[in-house]
Amino acid sequence: MAPHLRWLFLQFLLLLLEFSSAAQAQGNITLGSSLTPQGPNSSWLSPSGDFAFGFRPVEGNTSSYLLAVWFDKISEKTVAWYAKSSSDGQESPVQVPSSSVLQLRDDGLLSLRNPSGDEVWSPQAPSAAYARMLDTGNFRLVGADGKAKWETFDVPADTILPTQVLPVGQQDKVLRSRLIPTDYANGRFLLVVQPDGNLVFYPIAEHSTFQYDPYWASNTVGNGSRLVFNETGRVYFTVKNGTQINITSAGVNSMGDFFNRATLDPDGVFRQYLYPKSSMVRNVWSSRWTAVSSIPQDICQAISVKAGSGACGFNSYCTFDGTKNQTSCLCPQRYKFFDNERPDFVPQSCDLDEEAAMAEFEMTLINSVDWPQSDYEQYSPIDETECRRLCVIDCFCATAVFQASTNTCWKKKLPLSNGNMAESVDRTVLIKVPRSNNTQSQPSSGSSKWKKDKKYWILGSSLFFGSSVLLNLLLISILLFGTYCGISITSKKKLQSPQSSGSSILPPKIFTYNELEKATSGFHEVLGSGASGTVYKGQLQDEHPTSIAVKKIEKLQQETEKEFMVEVQTIGQTFHKNLVRLLGFCNEGTDRLLVYEFMTNGSLNEFLFGDARPHWSLRVQVALGVARGLLYLHEECSTQIIHCNIKPQNILLDDNFMAKIADFGLAKLLRANQTQTYTGIRGTRGYVAPEWFKNIGITSKVDVYSFGVILLELVCCRRNVELEIADEERSILTYWANDCYRCGRIDLLVEGDDEANFNIKKAERFVAVALWCLQEEPTMRPTMLKVTQMLDGAVQIPTPPDPSSFISSLP
Ligand SMILES: *[C@@H]1O[C@H](CO)[C@@H](O)[C@H](O)[C@H]1NC(C)=O
Ligand SMILES: *[C@@H]1O[C@H](CO)[C@@H](O)[C@H](O)[C@H]1NC(C)=O
Ligand SMILES: *[C@@H]1O[C@H](CO)[C@@H](O)[C@H](O)[C@H]1NC(C)=O
Ligand SMILES: *[C@@H]1O[C@H](CO)[C@@H](O)[C@H](O)[C@H]1NC(C)=O
Ligand SMILES: *[C@@H]1O[C@H](CO)[C@@H](O)[C@H](O)[C@H]1NC(C)=O
Ligand SMILES: *[C@@H]1O[C@H](CO)[C@@H](O)[C@H](O)[C@H]1NC(C)=O
Ligand SMILES: *[C@@H]1O[C@H](CO)[C@@H](O)[C@H](O)[C@H]1NC(C)=O
Ligand SMILES: *[C@@H]1O[C@H](CO)[C@@H](O)[C@H](O)[C@H]1NC(C)=O
Ligand SMILES: *[C@@H]1O[C@H](CO)[C@@H](O)[C@H](O)[C@H]1NC(C)=O
Ligand SMILES: *[C@@H]1O[C@H](CO)[C@@H](O)[C@H](O)[C@H]1NC(C)=O
Ligand SMILES: *[C@@H]1O[C@H](CO)[C@@H](O)[C@H](O)[C@H]1NC(C)=O
Repeated sequence: MAPHLRWLFLQFLLLLLEFSSAAQAQGNITLGSSLTPQGPNSSWLSPSGDFAFGFRPVEGNTSSYLLAVWFDKISEKTVAWYAKSSSDGQESPVQVPSSSVLQLRDDGLLSLRNPSGDEVWSPQAPSAAYARMLDTGNFRLVGADGKAKWETFDVPADTILPTQVLPVGQQDKVLRSRLIPTDYANGRFLLVVQPDGNLVFYPIAEHSTFQYDPYWASNTVGNGSRLVFNETGRVYFTVKNGTQINITSAGVNSMGDFFNRATLDPDGVFRQYLYPKSSMVRNVWSSRWTAVSSIPQDICQAISVKAGSGACGFNSYCTFDGTKNQTSCLCPQRYKFFDNERPDFVPQSCDLDEEAAMAEFEMTLINSVDWPQSDYEQYSPIDETECRRLCVIDCFCATAVFQASTNTCWKKKLPLSNGNMAESVDRTVLIKVPRSNNTQSQPSSGSSKWKKDKKYWILGSSLFFGSSVLLNLLLISILLFGTYCGISITSKKKLQSPQSSGSSILPPKIFTYNELEKATSGFHEVLGSGASGTVYKGQLQDEHPTSIAVKKIEKLQQETEKEFMVEVQTIGQTFHKNLVRLLGFCNEGTDRLLVYEFMTNGSLNEFLFGDARPHWSLRVQVALGVARGLLYLHEECSTQIIHCNIKPQNILLDDNFMAKIADFGLAKLLRANQTQTYTGIRGTRGYVAPEWFKNIGITSKVDVYSFGVILLELVCCRRNVELEIADEERSILTYWANDCYRCGRIDLLVEGDDEANFNIKKAERFVAVALWCLQEEPTMRPTMLKVTQMLDGAVQIPTPPDPSSFISSLP
């Protein structure tokens, strides 16, 4: 018994202490009394000391005070009411400096004056005889007749308290949310007891009172009566016929043990909160505000208006955890909540051409998120790859939303609004972000990434997952970041494409055979094999694990060792976004290996001749990419490199389907003398220029010829040589394309390809360029510079001469 008694005694002492601290409680506040923000008389307490009316310092501004009613017994001093003044039809919280004075004047009027003596606030009320701070949290001006002339319960801010009633009546009874918990400025939500009898929740445009479509309503037009916060801990809306529509409920009927409030929070949710009053209860309940009931339950789903930001602010997204009744606001990866200093915002320049855009930006993925608004373009049917690409190359596009079940893609611009994440959202959001230079080592599994960013805010929580901690989190993040997300780019350097940044041009690394054997798990996975050797997949275990392709060169003679080193150095210093990059090599005894960056999307061979026809725009992009890569090899790098083996198998695609030429620079290694007649034809049937079969010098024009073949294949999505085609005229594409071109029937070449038909002029231009490249006489063929200009449409394309003579010389 003894310990138990001692415990009770302790509780009793604590209760005594609590009461002694409330000893200053006022009864009647007489005329002539005044308050100042600083000094002993800064507030008037209610008899119980539960509530105080007076000046509250504004968080984050020591020289600014709010005129407010607050819970005085709890350490947070939670504000339940604050004065607002209106100017130009806009209400805003009254905030005054420290030497302001609030006085209940001798004439019975309450008046707040700033240090210069100007009245900054006064309730619209007739003369009072005295004032009282009531134990309900209501501050009242009482007339000589003993009747209330004005009370804070009449003009609620964002909170209502037990016994408070908002009747349907002469004037709108409105709760307006704060902007954020620490900023009492007008927020983005309204709760209105309308004169027409309807109780309605509205999102509103910031800095205005414009109301969007409601996100909740009682639907009691003509019949609604009043919103009641009953002292039993229940908030309901009464209807004239006597029915009560439940809004929220404490769930515990012990008002004596808890402080109670219901607040329209900054996220638009109306939540009822409890705080344990007595020390007894505090042994069970944590000393903090706990949300026990809320409406609407899932704000993320509730708001769906065409304008406005939604629950979380622009560019963020909302997620509701039903197990905890908790709403969180998150920023997408590479975005962060705004702070006062604007982030280093580098939007995509509209001057970038398609390829530059692809080089500088990429799309990262978040599943199960949607921003239902801000669409400006829709595509269907379409695949995800094309959806990504169309957004990357469009400077207006900030994100694309892809729905796999309907093959639909929506392009969206900033700011994004009404973001919502839920398992039921059957969409994938692709967010445009600047490329980092080692994309291959960063798996783009969206979800794991955003979890790392601890930049979010949370409101509301269940009974026992106290809300205060979470609310503090909100306070902290809101204080620092505000309510909007902005794109955050930590380093401008990341925006530069690897090719343009001088520091990335490192000499190729020398690997040991053992290292590469380990990296490829003993040359286990074969990616492909050709005349020059076999290619294996591997993984470098550096600080950033990088996927690699390791080429084992087979037909290399011992005496070419010196040449190998020279060539490898040349290849290793050849950088272009349309060339596969050589990362390193191995030269041990007879083992010669080249280590390349790994290209995730395979070769043009699979891309073009696979089951599904790739999109026209993607094919155009590949054509331009290959042309630029060849132009670089032929004319722009320090020593001219003739590829000699341009074919679809040697054109690889990265994860954004950027074309990259592989195997360049190997021609010299594999042949003793490039200008000699080539005897053992390496090239693949259908791609080699006629001069290979003649005794004339080999020049860069052999690559131009091969490019011409590939260009036709890209336009028509078929192999140059398809002998199995029944219609013999069509079995060799280069002949057939020439025939079609001469007859003005390009449409036959792209039969059944709606996209290409839609772009038939461009298709015709590409065929014309191809026919120029396929000229029998090498000198007649254009240079790659000319080819790129013709493809771009920068120069006129003369009608190509009929190259029918080449028929005789094709293999
Ligand atoms: C407050 O003033 C009213 C009216 O003068 C009076 O009836 C009441 O007893 C006073 N209450 C207190 C606690 O002084
Ligand atoms: C504070 O208020 C009390 C009671 O109204 C009054 O007696 C006292 O003089 C005031 N103190 C100051 C510093 O104004
Ligand atoms: C603090 O509040 C005063 C008005 O009371 C205002 O003039 C001042 O700009 C505020 N300071 C900050 C840092 O917000
Ligand atoms: C008001 O209530 C009555 C009786 O319940 C009902 O018939 C009527 O439709 C209601 N009015 C509106 C506008 O809902
Ligand atoms: C609260 O409910 C009780 C019983 O239902 C009722 O008597 C009382 O008037 C209600 N309070 C308010 C403020 O409506
Ligand atoms: C009272 O009115 C409400 C709304 O108008 C309606 O939903 C409810 O059924 C009515 N109840 C009765 C008992 O008439
Ligand atoms: C409203 O809540 C009260 C108390 O929790 C309950 O008795 C009543 O049935 C509820 N009314 C409705 C319509 O759900
Ligand atoms: C969440 O809220 C609903 C409705 O207010 C309630 O029924 C449910 O028990 C709550 N869940 C938790 C975990 O608090
Ligand atoms: C990008 O490349 C630069 C220079 O090569 C390097 O310093 C930087 O760490 C790289 N950034 C990333 C994200 O890998
Ligand atoms: C292309 O790469 C992307 C991203 O790595 C991948 O999702 C897609 O499946 C790849 N497509 C093909 C055809 O390999
Ligand atoms: C290549 O062969 C040509 C003609 O046969 C000759 O003139 C030239 O010197 C040779 N070059 C080399 C590097 O062997």
